Amino acid sequence: MSGTGALVYVVDDDASAREGVARLIRSAGLMTKTFASGEEFLAAPRPKIPSCLVLDVNLPGATGLDIQQELGKSGAQLPIVFLTGHGDIPMAVRAVRAGAMNFLTKPFDEEDLLNAIRQCISYQLEDELPSPENIGNMIGESAGLQRVLRAIQVVAPTDSTVLIQGETGTGKELVAHAVHDLSRRAKRSFVQVNCASIPATLLESELFGHEKGAFTGAIAQKIGRFELAHEGTLFLDEIGEIPLELQPKLLRALQEHELERLGGNRTIHADVRIVAATNRNLAQMADEGKFRSDLYYRLNVFPVTVPPLRDRREDIPLLIRFFTQKYARKLDRAIEEIPSATFEALVQYDWPGNIRELQNVIERSVILSNGPELQVAIPEINVRAAAVGMGDTGSNISEAEERARILEALKEAKGLVGGPSGAAARLGLKRTTLQSRMRKYNIARLYQ
Ligand SMILES: Nc1ncnc2c1ncn2[C@@H]1O[C@H](COP(=O)(O)OP(=O)(O)OP(=O)(O)O)[C@@H](O)[C@H]1O
Ligand SMILES: [Mg+2]
Repeated sequence: MSGTGALVYVVDDDASAREGVARLIRSAGLMTKTFASGEEFLAAPRPKIPSCLVLDVNLPGATGLDIQQELGKSGAQLPIVFLTGHGDIPMAVRAVRAGAMNFLTKPFDEEDLLNAIRQCISYQLEDELPSPENIGNMIGESAGLQRVLRAIQVVAPTDSTVLIQGETGTGKELVAHAVHDLSRRAKRSFVQVNCASIPATLLESELFGHEKGAFTGAIAQKIGRFELAHEGTLFLDEIGEIPLELQPKLLRALQEHELERLGGNRTIHADVRIVAATNRNLAQMADEGKFRSDLYYRLNVFPVTVPPLRDRREDIPLLIRFFTQKYARKLDRAIEEIPSATFEALVQYDWPGNIRELQNVIERSVILSNGPELQVAIPEINVRAAAVGMGDTGSNISEAEERARILEALKEAKGLVGGPSGAAARLGLKRTTLQSRMRKYNIARLYQ
């Protein structure tokens, strides 16, 4: 397993409890190291990767609290999940006051422990991993998107099931591909099933396959997508739409990696990594009995939530520029400029359909534009553009103001003119247009 995965240390003197926790952690696709005592743990080397410590409070010798103190003294940033017995509550309270992330009382719910561990790990990802570059060709510098990219980096090399949630058009499918591409299964197949687009009656044979004659119309044997994804990744898209009656069979395939084709009696083993996506609220569906909770828990091993575009507005200018360039090139149009009022209106629009909507609007706009300026194709945006245009002087801003805007964009882009995060992209200008204005305003030589 790759070194970018997360590591969970488990310290418990009770061998069976320790092994049980370790097994659970491994089943979630995380690496683990176990220790029977605090002394043993403190003496062991700790590689610098995102990690967390699952610690029994009541240990003979160095207690959980002692270990916490030792780690604190050495300056190690290792979040701790304390496991306590019923009598240990005061001790647990002291531990939490001293900075423990979480504590759970034995016997604890397995899902609660995994959630606490995940929380500890994601808490560290913010500063421990280098900023991910160009993962899955996803454009965006917002903290929201960067968090998603870091989560992909951490989970991809493990075999954990990933559940991607987010509104329509936020990029869930791109995330699924990125998880596969960065995994050790990358050279094997990525098999996709859209549970919403296949009629419920056919979905079972699509997933699990069938033998010849299994039902009317089964004129030949069919290999299911599970089998096709053997040693690769199976992407279950729109998992919220999978019929309730099919869910037990899916659960078994996920748990046991075993299935039978319809009408077949041979058990088939399939080594498959599952990535699922949905724009529905599965937790709520599970509460309302519309989705099996056991299946939900099985899928929700490593949740990744892709935020809607309106919650990461910093990404909008980059995306506008990116898609304008992409479609101008593809459709062979020479778009030189996005008028500033239009650009502002695009930036301020709410994008209920998220990136897909933005992408479609830009594509249509490029098609409809017959001059060097981008003309935007949706009425809501044109109304806003007019309003924005009245506020300042539209695209006829003063030269001093334009010079100031260019300087500011260059500063934000750290002097970079071209590229997706360069000043030209920030201003909605073509690189060559920006360069000619930089010459006009005599600022070109500052940035060469
Ligand atoms: N960060 C991004 N950078 C560039 N393109 C993106 C980004 N996010 C999404 N896209 C593009 O937006 C479109 C929608 O993305 P995707 O199909 O992954 O969304 P989704 O969340 O699966 O939507 P749905 O729930 O409707 O299936 C795709 O064409 C994708 O390439
Ligand atoms: Mg999708």
